[in-house]
Amino acid sequence: MASISIRNVSKSYGRTPVLHRLEIDIADGEFVSFLGPSGCGKSTLLFCIAGLEEITVGEIRLGDRAMGRTPPRDRNIALVFQDYALYPHMRVRDNIAFPLLQQSIAAETVRGQVAWAAELLGLETLLDRLPAELSGGQRQRVAVGRAIVRNPAALLMDEPLSNLDASLRVRMRTEIKRLQKELGLTVVFVTHDQEEAMVLSDRIAVLDGGVLQQFAEPMTVYREPANQFVASFIGSPQMNFLPGPMAGGALDDRSLLGVRPHDLVPVHRAPDGVLAVEGTLALVEPAGPVTYLDVALADGSLVKATCADPRGHQPGERLTLAVPRHRVSIFDAASGVRTGALAVATGEDSNDMKAMAHGL
Ligand SMILES: Nc1ncnc2c1ncn2[C@@H]1O[C@H](COP(=O)(O)OP(=O)(O)OP(=O)(O)O)[C@@H](O)[C@H]1O
Ligand SMILES: [Mg+2]
Repeated sequence: MASISIRNVSKSYGRTPVLHRLEIDIADGEFVSFLGPSGCGKSTLLFCIAGLEEITVGEIRLGDRAMGRTPPRDRNIALVFQDYALYPHMRVRDNIAFPLLQQSIAAETVRGQVAWAAELLGLETLLDRLPAELSGGQRQRVAVGRAIVRNPAALLMDEPLSNLDASLRVRMRTEIKRLQKELGLTVVFVTHDQEEAMVLSDRIAVLDGGVLQQFAEPMTVYREPANQFVASFIGSPQMNFLPGPMAGGALDDRSLLGVRPHDLVPVHRAPDGVLAVEGTLALVEPAGPVTYLDVALADGSLVKATCADPRGHQPGERLTLAVPRHRVSIFDAASGVRTGALAVATGEDSNDMKAMAHGL
């Protein structure tokens, strides 16, 4: 395995710039996701690491080697594509063995490596099938088997789960994580699904328009988003943004307050240390473990809050919503940059806060 160092990397297609001065250092054995909206440059960056695309400026290092113009086959990097790109006329065992057959490796070693990968991925009984005879999840496993069979220095995956249905996606992502831990793999995982990135990654690189917005651990990205873009892209439902003056005097319209729906709950009595807002309940949306409440504020804007138990809430009723002050992010309204929180987090929430978290 190896570290991956992306240093001051820019890339243009002709005159169109796609990646801008990216600096991302991925440690040996780390799981990093590239996360961002469609067209932000995730696949391009992945292909640059793999050597399938040339970078315009900067340097990419694998371990202590600068890649320069090293061709893909000499980088010892494996890539799993979104559509898996299996050979339709080859049986599973030959699809998995393919990268080894390219390298004149002894037949005995090839058999051993294929058996190892097949066992790791639960493919032992499927080795003689053709790809057309497999389910989507099984095909995905074969693609991963083909990627790891030659012990690559790093495993790159471009939206590998996006063709699977929701429950299979969740199962497969657990398998990928298990495999990564078991083998100590360095993994770069491209996704536009923020939840997938959150649960899988040691760190997430959030990209927008080819510019790195933040590179940090999942909970840091969630709790301390670098800017409004990251704050909106991470977390579902989206963060609420309120005008600065609603903080009660200390802030003006040059600031925005960011409040996550999961931190904003209805209360009978707002305890000390909270930011409270009043509004009228517009819509109740039960979503299983929590219920979302759409609440119209005096200025006509809607905020989304959550409660554990929807019983007793009726559209039209007046509500007081509260959020602990340390859970309120402050953003500069002009630049969108996060400048801090309304209060410093203390180690322990008060009993009032705990009661509030349960909507009491
Ligand atoms: N061969 C190419 N020539 C010109 N422009 C390209 C080429 N390939 C990609 N682009 C452009 O580069 C930008 C980044 O594309 P890229 O495929 O990296 O995005 P992405 O983040 O992977 O998006 P998605 O989530 O849709 O896969 C896009 O604006 C795209 O139109
Ligand atoms: Mg892509």
